[in-house]
Parts: sequence; C-alpha cells; structure tokens
Amino acid sequence: MARIVRHVAAAPVKIEPSDKPVFVCACGLTKNFPLCDGSHKPARNEEAGKLYTYGEDRQPNGSGPDEFTGNTCA
Ligand code: FES
Repeated sequence: MARIVRHVAAAPVKIEPSDKPVFVCACGLTKNFPLCDGSHKPARNEEAGKLYTYGEDRQPNGSGPDEFTGNTCA
C-alpha cells in the first residue's frame, strides 16, 4: 500500500518529552501533525501494491480506494 499526502509545513514540530507514551503519525493523515489523531483508520484496509489518495476530510478519494491515475497531485 502507498498514499500521497500533501504537507504544507516548512518547519519542524517540537515534541516535549513526556512521561506518557507519545504516538507520532506514521501514515501522514493526521490533522495534528506530528501526533497521531486516529485519522489512520481508513488506511487500515489499503491493499498492498496500490497507491491511495486522500481528500482533506482524510477519506480516500472517490467512492473507495482508487488506483492512482496521476492527476490528483496538483
Ligand atoms: S498514524 Fe497517522 S493518524 Fe494515526
């Protein structure tokens, strides 16, 4: 599985040490970067070998996971 995620930040986000576990987003879909906010749930059903795109609502574009067509990276 793979996905294209648009990032607009141009600077790092500082993470303060904590005595509690900190979950850093690894899927790129969070609205609270760099921390996981649970937005990864739609990515759980992605199939290996397909490229997925997601809208600003953090849902796969179209009616379901689409194979990448090359026209959504403007
Ligand atoms: S890992 Fe990205 S939102 Fe949870």
